[in-house]
Amino acid sequence: MCGIIGVVQERGEVASFLHQALKRLEYRGYDSVGVTTISNGEIHVKKDKGKIEEVHRKLNLDDMPGSIGIGHTRWATHGIPSLFNSHPHFDCSGKIAVVHNGVIDNFMELRKELAEKGHHFESETDTEVIPHMLEDAMKTGMDLEDALRLVTDRIEGTYAIVAMSTSDPEKIVCTRDGNPLVIGQKQGANYVSSDIPAFLPMTNDMILLLDGEIASITPDDVKIEKLDKRARIEREPIKISWTADQAQKSGYPHFMLKEIHEQPDAIRNTLRLRAEVIEEAAEIVKSCDRVYLLAMGTSGHAAISGRHMFTSLTGIVPTFELASDFSDTVCDALSEKDCIIAITQSGETTDTISAIKYAKRFGVKVVAITNVVGSSVTRLADHTIITQAGPEIGVAATKTFMVQLTALGLLVLAVGEKSGHRKREALQKKRAALETMPSIISEIISRNEEPARRLAQMLYDAPSLLFLGRGISIATAEEGALKLKEIAYNHAEAYSAGESKHGPIALVQDGYPVIFVAPKDETRNRLIGNIMEMKARGARIVAVIERNDEELRTLSDDVFIVPESVEPEFSTMAFVVPLQLFSYYMAVKKGYDPDKPRNLAKSVTVL
Ligand code: F6R
Repeated sequence: MCGIIGVVQERGEVASFLHQALKRLEYRGYDSVGVTTISNGEIHVKKDKGKIEEVHRKLNLDDMPGSIGIGHTRWATHGIPSLFNSHPHFDCSGKIAVVHNGVIDNFMELRKELAEKGHHFESETDTEVIPHMLEDAMKTGMDLEDALRLVTDRIEGTYAIVAMSTSDPEKIVCTRDGNPLVIGQKQGANYVSSDIPAFLPMTNDMILLLDGEIASITPDDVKIEKLDKRARIEREPIKISWTADQAQKSGYPHFMLKEIHEQPDAIRNTLRLRAEVIEEAAEIVKSCDRVYLLAMGTSGHAAISGRHMFTSLTGIVPTFELASDFSDTVCDALSEKDCIIAITQSGETTDTISAIKYAKRFGVKVVAITNVVGSSVTRLADHTIITQAGPEIGVAATKTFMVQLTALGLLVLAVGEKSGHRKREALQKKRAALETMPSIISEIISRNEEPARRLAQMLYDAPSLLFLGRGISIATAEEGALKLKEIAYNHAEAYSAGESKHGPIALVQDGYPVIFVAPKDETRNRLIGNIMEMKARGARIVAVIERNDEELRTLSDDVFIVPESVEPEFSTMAFVVPLQLFSYYMAVKKGYDPDKPRNLAKSVTVL
């Protein structure tokens, strides 16, 4: 996820507007920034790696001439954060500038073709093929708009592209497919951006650009057409009622809620990871004798859930270890035939990094799953899977947890193909099920938001809660309890429901809330036994159940409902969502800021 802004105005300089607009987009990515303007037929550019204010202090982004310009704040996907990989990107002559959000799947092939024709590339990005393709098209006499139409015929993937050229220095051209672009309209100036907050202080009049459309924007006109049909589309602007401040969170009161809602897209984008990336990881895992899953906190819960996926679909039984305790637990008993799957959304958690460094001393192979390109873990690992959640700003992990589970699902399926533990058709069915998760998660969010808010009104002052599950649902219960503790500060414990009667049940008295994670998998009958034990002691039973589970609906005081079509191996992805929402509304009800829990930071970089 990256932030894009473009502006073209009748008079006056645009540089400081571009700078401020990029700051309003910084939540979309913040590892490098760049702006370019045109003045007197000349291109001016300032860009570098680093956060916007760091780059501004170095280069003074406000000091650039010109009343037309484009800018970009980057969340690296192809190529590490660096000066050369920062947008905007240019053609060979330096006269065509492009910013892009998305992924060009076939960029390798296009790049090779362009290089053979003599084009020179400065970056490792997929984006850079676009200005060079525009250059080729414009050499044949096309204007920028037609050239961009031609480019979209060749590129595959998702994109929002904004381009300008010195050959038509009063025009910005843009198009999209799969990534957002919105146009802001004002007397004497027009704007284009990946998100409304960028231009909100200047105008509340917004026009949506839809997939497959192209817009030509000048100071006094916005012309929209379909890519494949040259007929002007008249579209009235929509008045936005948001304030600039609210819109930073795209209208959501908190980043956490926004990020919970972004989970379907985050999964979808992670499912689009290149097959070779997963294949290579699977190759490493399959070639090893012992597999360790290492992580901390929420990532640890993804690992526990992943262990069940492995066991069920590959026949391999990995060991889960908290990274913080790994060296003390394994006590040198490691070899080059072992492998680690290290899971860390930030890629910077010191416990995880230290465990990897320790293991590498014994020649252990390392596969990392992280959300941050270029993070420390990527430099240590033999192979990395980069999840596609985009930047997660809320400190409590939600969408990054979801993409870790998605990546583990993909990895397990690829290892399963090699191990032959399950029949190919069975694995194909699981893969198809994983691909339906984005729509299932969307449904769960919309169905459970109100029940979660209502339950929080009733339970917010509960001094303690138990979260119980069996099998894979222990991971789900653990994550539910952690979310509640960290943002709402209620004491919460997660246990295996089987273990609960060996001690924790002593806590239970009249009205004590016990939350059961209850998919209809092979654990269900035994879980019902545990529910009955808790009921007999007066517990208030809250259960996350499948839609058609009438029996559990009757046994429970409160229920959260998920669709019945979820495969057991992916049940954590579905069943955790109501628990995320419940924690969020508990925190809000108690007046806490769920985005900034006390004592916690987004990545824990101390031992
Ligand atoms: C909980 C949370 C933490 C992290 C843990 C590991 O919401 O965010 O428990 O999961 O600190 O962080 P990463 O995944 O960055 O290694």
